[in-house]
Amino acid sequence: MALYNEKVMDHFRNPRNVGALEDANGVGESGNAVCGDIMKVYLKIEDGIVKDVGFETFGCGSAIASSSMATELIKGKPVEEALELSNKAVVEALEGLPLRKVHCSILAEEAIKAALEDYYRKQGLPIPQKILDYKPAVEEDH
Ligand code: FES
Repeated sequence: MALYNEKVMDHFRNPRNVGALEDANGVGESGNAVCGDIMKVYLKIEDGIVKDVGFETFGCGSAIASSSMATELIKGKPVEEALELSNKAVVEALEGLPLRKVHCSILAEEAIKAALEDYYRKQGLPIPQKILDYKPAVEEDH
């Protein structure tokens, strides 16, 4: 059996939403100290809706597929929904990642949370409790 399913391979080969957004009003970055991979997320939020989203990922195939899927999941959604995005939802939408690659999806969740935090700060809005309480899922198996 192939290690990666078709959906993961599709998002790896044809990643959606690649690139920086010049007019982003929320930018966040996340990195994994163990593998050294880095992900940057750009959000363009208008009227409480994620109008556009872009990403730059210097990382493994699973990180690229996760970035692509995570950005698709929040595009066009209210900010409150973007706040709720979990790495678990990204893995589910990708129809699974090998256990050793689940941490790559955490990078996407973290980067989106960081971009949302940046957005709230820039708007002078209170940072939602969901962000303040956020602790990335613990990686036990890297
Ligand atoms: Fe580091 Fe995938 S191996 S994000």
